[in-house]
Parts: sequence; C-alpha cells; structure tokens
Amino acid sequence: MADIETIASKIKAGQINRVVVLAGAGISTAAGVPDFRTPETGLYAKLAPLCLPYPEAIFHINYFGHTPEPFYALARARNPVNLKPTVSHAFLALLAKKNLLHFLFTQNIDGLELDAGVPGDKMMAVHGNWKSQRCHKCKTPYPDDLMQQAVNSGDVPYCLVAECGGAVKPDVVFFGESVAPRFEEEEPKVREADLMLIMGTSLKVNPCTRLPPQVPDGVPRVLLNMDTVGGIGGRASDVSILGACDDGVRQLADAFGWRDELESLWAGAVAAKPTGAEVDTMALLDESIEKLAKKMEGSRQVPEGHRRMLEAHLGSKSTNMECVVRFRQLRSLSGPNGPITTS
Ligand code: APR
Repeated sequence: MADIETIASKIKAGQINRVVVLAGAGISTAAGVPDFRTPETGLYAKLAPLCLPYPEAIFHINYFGHTPEPFYALARARNPVNLKPTVSHAFLALLAKKNLLHFLFTQNIDGLELDAGVPGDKMMAVHGNWKSQRCHKCKTPYPDDLMQQAVNSGDVPYCLVAECGGAVKPDVVFFGESVAPRFEEEEPKVREADLMLIMGTSLKVNPCTRLPPQVPDGVPRVLLNMDTVGGIGGRASDVSILGACDDGVRQLADAFGWRDELESLWAGAVAAKPTGAEVDTMALLDESIEKLAKKMEGSRQVPEGHRRMLEAHLGSKSTNMECVVRFRQLRSLSGPNGPITTS
C-alpha cells in the first residue's frame, strides 16, 4: 500500500526521480477561472443562459466557424494575461527545478505552468494555449497586439486576408480538432514514470484520459482533486489526496521538506507575472455571460453567425425553392443585412 510518507522517503533517497504529471482546470481555479464541469460554479453551468446547443459548443470548431461571438464575449474573463500562477503551478516548477519532473501533460490553455517556471521542453499544453493565434479558415497568423485588442473589447477579430474573412482563433485545440502529433511522441513517458500526479481534472476528455491506465503496475498514482475520478484509487499503489489542489501540494511539500522553497518560488512567480489592472475574472465572466444572453435572447433573434450559416446552407440548396422563398420572406422582414427574427 503506497502512502505519502513512503513516497516522501523514496524521493529523499533519490529512488523516485521520474515524476509524470497530468493537470486540468482544477489547478487554475484558485487563479480566478472556473473549471468546466463542477456543478453550479463550472463554466458549462454558467453558460446555461446562452441556450447553446450544448455547453461545449462554445469550444467546438464547427460552432465557432459560424458563431464565434460567444467565445470572444468570454475571452477577456478567461484570458491568461489577467491570471497569476497558483501554488499548484509553483509545485510543478519546483519538481522541474529539482530535476524530478519527467513530463507534464496539461489540459489547460492558460500557460500558467510556463509562467510559474516549468521549462517548455518538460511539458505539453495538450489542448494548445493562447500564446499565438491565426485565422481558423486559411490559418494566416494574426498579430498579437490586434488579438489583445479584440480580447479586451470582446469583438471578434477577422482574418487580415481580404478575400478570406475567417474568424481568428487562438492556437487552442477545439472540440472537433486533433491535438498536435507531439502528444504521441511524448505519451511513452507515462510508461517510464516512477510516480504519477493527477491534479485537478475530471479525466473526461481524450486523449489525456488514456494516460493514467498506462502507468506501470506498482507505480504510485497520486490524485490531488476535489473528488475521486477516472477509477484512480482502484490500485493498491494509488493514493488520493481529496480537496483543493493547493492544499494537496502543500501537504506533499511538507512531507518532502520543501515547504519554504515552495512558498518562495510561488511568491517569486506571482511577482514576476506582469498583468494589467487587477481584473476580477469571475465577476467579469458573469457580467459577460449576462450581457451576451441578453443580446442572444431579447427578440429571439437568430444570432448573426446562424444567419450566415443558414445563408450559406440555403445558398447551396438553391434548388429547394420553398426554403429559399421562406428565407427571403424572413430576410425582407428584417432588412437585407439584419438578423432573422423568427416569427
Ligand atoms: N482543487 C482540486 N480539484 C479541483 C479544484 C481545486 N481547486 N477545482 C476544481 N477541481 C476539480 C473538479 O472537482 C473536477 O473534478 O477538478 C476537476 C475539473 O474537471 P473539469 O472541469 O472537467 O476540467 P478538466 O478535467 O480540465 O477538463 C478537460 O475539457 O472542456 C474541455 O478543453 C476543456 O481542457 C478541458 C477538458
């Protein structure tokens, strides 16, 4: 049976030195961004007033292609430029500093692991990150300064290539897109682990879900999460530290004798992260969702993006005259460029 004390003595004796970490949204909630699936407080619960086809639609490439507005309405509240690393991010940087971090797979796109000091070659943001952006249609890169302007204003940025006009998307992996090939190159590292930490994730989204089962039998898998997930705990060598990640990493640091080092590394990382004016990201998120919900409901307008999708769809179905006539009738009611108001 593994436990924290046994793990601590093996680390101190140098018998554990290839730690693989799988992280999720739970390590960043203390930074001010909600996770996705926690009932009531998670992002997907907060998006209910938008009446999206399904909550994840806001991050699905097909939905973004015709209706990018909701994504940008929330962008400022979730933009990493306003966020500081948590003590959990600092713990990952401390593992790297002590040459114990074999590899970090993070599902987060906020880049806070890098801000805390985790070396880029020791980690992969499996779902991409906000560090760059491009047109989602022609893939032409888009300038950082213009992107920051769009994020701050909440307006959708469009491709600078005139004849393209596609909406610009940060280099994050949306549902319906595949993760970078680098994931398969790094995946074998999980089989080389002599300790795995699973932190702040519901283990619901592939391909990261397939990592924990690949840890060799007998190698401890330590879950730091509010609740048990993904069958972790089923092996005699599993250890669960349920509760806030930040409390869990402090418990590990105390056991490993690293507490003072952890706190000072964290304080340094927070001070080093330049951010603009303090932003209450949680309040900003609630306000953005409320504003967008009003915009999308009210006269029960079909959102601009849906109009464009319908137009494209009907344009391609010009043989279906009834459909076209109906669409033209609707369109005449709301003017040539206005959204369609469903009767
Ligand atoms: N401390 C510990 N656990 C936490 C904390 C915290 N402070 N906050 C939240 N949690 C837990 C939740 O209880 C939940 O089990 O972290 C988990 C977060 O799960 P999700 O919200 O599903 O987030 P994640 O697993 O990262 O989602 C994976 O889904 O929508 C996509 O692309 C998105 O990367 C994301 C992926």
